[in-house]
Amino acid sequence: MYELLAWVEHGALGEALRGSGVWTYGLLNLAHILGIGSLFGAVLILDLRLLGAWRSIPIPTIAKPTVPLAAAGFMVAISSGILMISFNATEYLGNPFLYVKLPAIVFGIANVAVVQRLPAWRHALVGMELEPGERRVLALAGGISLLTWLTVITCGRMIGYW
Ligand code: HEM
Repeated sequence: MYELLAWVEHGALGEALRGSGVWTYGLLNLAHILGIGSLFGAVLILDLRLLGAWRSIPIPTIAKPTVPLAAAGFMVAISSGILMISFNATEYLGNPFLYVKLPAIVFGIANVAVVQRLPAWRHALVGMELEPGERRVLALAGGISLLTWLTVITCGRMIGYW
């Protein structure tokens, strides 16, 4: 693990970032927060809808703005996160919050891939009337997604306090 972190820190990217001025890390952190805010704000609304909130609003109406916003926020969060860790990657060696956070991100993406293949999600997206079983499947998917991204955010926030 140390070799990987040292390679990230001492690679061309890490060297270039460290030499690019005192504001770079702060601006990347700002981008990270904006990405996280967009991702989690969108996920929170969509997942609460899947869990049964705001039943009068059709799922396609909620999914239309939230899915692309979550995807864009994720791209901003992941790219700024990789750039941030390149500054001082070796300092995170042994940090349990990072070791939970990164697999949780992979799990979150895997969950999205699974949900997109669910017949219940496909039916919901085209506005079909859902069977009770399909509603339960989507509620479970929403709950798993919410817990996963809460885990990622909690671990991200705690990394610096280890
Ligand atoms: C969508 C995915 C991600 C989420 C939701 C997320 C969440 C967070 C949160 C909430 C913080 C605390 C920010 C603050 O309080 O200033 C944080 C910090 C951080 N994240 Fe992420 N993050 C994500 C992806 C990544 C990735 C992929 C990496 C690197 C591989 C990364 C590296 C970092 C680093 C280095 C910090 C600063 C830790 C410190 O305080 O020293 N993040 N993240």
